[in-house]
Amino acid sequence: MSGGALAGRHVVVSAGPTYEDIDPVRFLGNRSSGKMGFAIAAAAAARAAPVTLISGPVTLPTPDTGSGSLHRIDVRSAAQMHAAVIGALPADIYIGAAAVADYTPARVAAEKIKKSSGSDGLTLQLVRTRDILADLAVHPHRPGLLVGFAAETEEVERHARGKLAAKQLDLIAANRVGVAGSGFESDDNALVIYGSGLALSLGPASKHELAAQLLELICQRMPAATRASDSTR
Ligand code: PMT
Repeated sequence: MSGGALAGRHVVVSAGPTYEDIDPVRFLGNRSSGKMGFAIAAAAAARAAPVTLISGPVTLPTPDTGSGSLHRIDVRSAAQMHAAVIGALPADIYIGAAAVADYTPARVAAEKIKKSSGSDGLTLQLVRTRDILADLAVHPHRPGLLVGFAAETEEVERHARGKLAAKQLDLIAANRVGVAGSGFESDDNALVIYGSGLALSLGPASKHELAAQLLELICQRMPAATRASDSTR
């Protein structure tokens, strides 16, 4: 298998949603199916990269990589995904395709929360989760290339470029969500990749096709110098 610039490079990909438990029967989640992240992991393995795929709760089978190497780690919550990504370092490339919760309940009720008589509502106190990408950007083992995703319903470029800067990313793949044929759950998507001096539209196309095109771009942007496999794990 010939992978060009990705051959032998450790690629960590996050995929799917996170579930933030409220009580033993309820959670806060989102509509991510994992299809985009799994397609990227498969495309990276096809380019002879050793891949660590960190997945939230999805129903997808682990991609069949033939002779490629792919290690899947299943997690549930944003905190677990954060720990699994940091635990997978060092890596040459991190691609954050997961829809990670920004907020989680301040506490998980030990028993099922009951409807209380005399009250029409229930107030949940939420606290911020730790931002995986932002923490990777300042980590001593910062991956050589940090790629985020931006799921937006409006002002896509402004919000995506804001996240690119705030999270100190090399690239961000913006996609529109809340419309048919792109974003969550769909087999297809359309991406605009932003980076320094870059605004590149990809698709509409299948998530598998887009994953291959995104990895082609990543290969062109790979820092030629060091690789994670040269440093101590
Ligand atoms: O899974 P599918 O059904 O195929 O759908 C694909 C997708 C729409 C989920 C995917 O293409 C996508 O856009 N993924 C990112 C979704 C998201 O959470 O976007 P965001 O704009 O809220 O977050 C921006 C970036 O920060 C993302 O790379 C996210 O992984 C990352 N993040 C967010 C919160 C957090 N605590 N840590 C993070 O690293």
